[in-house]
Amino acid sequence: MKRHATVALLAAATLAVGAVASSAPSTPTSSDEVALAPVGPAPGSNVEKRVDALLERMTTEEKLQQVQLLSDGQVTDEDARKGVGGVFSLVDPARIDELQHIAVEESRLGIPILFAYDTIHGYRTIFPVPLGAASSFDPEVARTDATIGARESATVGLKQIYSPMVDLSHEPRWGRIVEGGGEDPYLNAVLAAARVKGAQGDDYAARDKVVTSVKHFVAYGQPEGGRDYNTTDMSESRLRNYYLPPFKAAIDAGADTVMCSFNSINGVPGCANRYTETDILKKEWGFDGFIESDYTAVSETRACPPRKPDEGPCGHGTAADGPEAAANALMAGTDSEMVSTHIRDNGAQLLREGRISRARLDDAVRRILRIKFRAGLFDHPYVDQAEAADESSFLTDDDRAAAREAAGRSMVLLKNHDATLPFDASKKTAVIGPLGKDQHSVLGPWWGRGRDEDAVSVFDGVSEQSPGATYAEGCTLTPSEPPSNTPEDECASDAGFAEAVAAAEAADQVVLTVGETREMSGEAASRTTLDLPGRQEELIEAIKATGTPFVVVLLNGRPLTLGDVAGDSPAMLEAWFPGVEAGNAVADVVFGKVNPGGKLPVSFPQRLGQVPIYYNHEPTGRPCDVTQKYNSRYRDLRSCDPLYEFGFGLSYTSFDISGLTLDRRTMSRNGRVKVSVTVKNTGERKGDEVVQLYLRDPVASIAQPVRRLRGFERVTLAPGQTQRVGFTLDRDDVGFRDNRGKLVVEPGEIQVYVGSSARADLTDSFRVR
Ligand code: NOJ
Repeated sequence: MKRHATVALLAAATLAVGAVASSAPSTPTSSDEVALAPVGPAPGSNVEKRVDALLERMTTEEKLQQVQLLSDGQVTDEDARKGVGGVFSLVDPARIDELQHIAVEESRLGIPILFAYDTIHGYRTIFPVPLGAASSFDPEVARTDATIGARESATVGLKQIYSPMVDLSHEPRWGRIVEGGGEDPYLNAVLAAARVKGAQGDDYAARDKVVTSVKHFVAYGQPEGGRDYNTTDMSESRLRNYYLPPFKAAIDAGADTVMCSFNSINGVPGCANRYTETDILKKEWGFDGFIESDYTAVSETRACPPRKPDEGPCGHGTAADGPEAAANALMAGTDSEMVSTHIRDNGAQLLREGRISRARLDDAVRRILRIKFRAGLFDHPYVDQAEAADESSFLTDDDRAAAREAAGRSMVLLKNHDATLPFDASKKTAVIGPLGKDQHSVLGPWWGRGRDEDAVSVFDGVSEQSPGATYAEGCTLTPSEPPSNTPEDECASDAGFAEAVAAAEAADQVVLTVGETREMSGEAASRTTLDLPGRQEELIEAIKATGTPFVVVLLNGRPLTLGDVAGDSPAMLEAWFPGVEAGNAVADVVFGKVNPGGKLPVSFPQRLGQVPIYYNHEPTGRPCDVTQKYNSRYRDLRSCDPLYEFGFGLSYTSFDISGLTLDRRTMSRNGRVKVSVTVKNTGERKGDEVVQLYLRDPVASIAQPVRRLRGFERVTLAPGQTQRVGFTLDRDDVGFRDNRGKLVVEPGEIQVYVGSSARADLTDSFRVR
């Protein structure tokens, strides 16, 4: 063992000074035989040559180690010594460095480990949840979040993040709707690309950059019944036109890794799905990075053995046992197995039996090594311990300022009767509600290494701007997980209402902070209602009865059914889970330092029974008409509309969008049409409007959505100021994908709608010929 370590050290040292690879091909059989040779060509030389040279030297056992991805709780020194490929969720820089030293200096070939983490909306500097960031309709918000998250992650030695999550969803019961960009493929695509660019830059080998893993491939956002991990049954047209485009955008922006999903699509699990993984992602799109499985997703493809004890997650039943699960996953295109170890443990046997091919195993390893080289890991494997230990590397003043700005830009003003907001900060303000002093839920369900004590509560943020503010909880929302939580954890008692009412009566204005805890949102947190949990609506009624002006500030991770709340409340602000600067950002908006300009990235239904409800649905032969019987309506609801539509959001000022012009009436199939409008701030405050452009193809060989977002721009205008906003449309905008993924551009009319939500009514049309 001692000698083994020494020769590997030599190999690493040679690599570091830039030696050229031995050209002698070798298929090593024993570790000592080849370790004396350098492990790859010189830094800076062609990555593919370095990969090939290294691959040639690897034994089957080393290859099987390379496709293994272990969690922080699993990995041992021995794994590093054997050459494990990746480790995730380990964030202690000293331990990362220790394992990396073992991998580089004591494993036979010195291949560094790729360390990964779920930096989803921040590492230490926690930004708004992605559904919130999507509400900003501002790719810069997503990009800045990813840029800071990447830098902080890289500082502790991480080089891959499991983000962006781009699962489009029409399913608000699903807790993970909070992690993505909402219901629209175009918005999701724009934000996904921005996140990839922010985290990776032009070259993710840079010290402050990481490689992104876009997830969960694919159609994970549509689980039946809204239950996490559940079955998805999906038409090819839906898959191609709604669910795949955000992934494609992330890949085009440079994302070099992908995570396959837990769920099955049309009966085939995401991590054993040759069609999506190999045919679409790798062949059709030319993706040359690697796919890692989600957590035990390979194991979960196995049938659960009846009556006998089993050794791990199982269920889908597309594989009889571990070896078959391994063969299916690898041969389908999964390159790396997270947590379960079926490929590693059974690979040699499967090769001998011809159930997996050597070529495919080599391909998986090649992809992993390629990303490690591109990430610069061979050249800079270690962690700068001083920097990692330096608290000032994280959550800097600038980072906080960026998180505060992002949170402000992500908030959506849903109602503002009689200009209730902004409040006058010099008046007496009461903060009321179970989330008013919360520093925990505001960080959202992927809080990374964010710390509750870093977070600014709504009460603290409000007090800072309105000194002397008072507080009453009203009722308690307990941050707990099922099965331990019970309805009693969720604002079950009105014992605190009297104190809350007294606080409201003693104040001039109330910030009423209600919503969900972060445990009610995110992974494995599906809900069967979209109402405010517990007796929070009663609390709102009690505050209403005082007559004191109030704003309901919503902290939550999914669309809620807010009809009654809207009926009771003069003002409502959807703040989502705003991140570490939550309270300051809420106060900025409530007191008017920031004029809210966010828009909903997802429809808010009137009632749960309308789900799935989304603006970009296909038309039907009997469009909804509540006055007639035989059409697509509900007999117990007076309209089919959502309560708040996609793209909706108010401001403290008003805007007018007019002057729609098209620079031509006919577009050739490869041509372009430029659409322009004038937006004017017609109110008395500076503010932001998101100008939104939707298209409709009214006659097509496959029914097309009633509207599709194809452009947006968030502009800031002073009172009276006007701006011309232009959008250029091309074949990608007017066409749709057929069942083989081909872009179909059919001749005919294309209708254009421009406005400030999916209800945009400024319209014109052009023809495609
Ligand atoms: C399971 C989640 O589905 C996925 O999003 C996450 O990246 C992995 N766990 C690793 O934590």
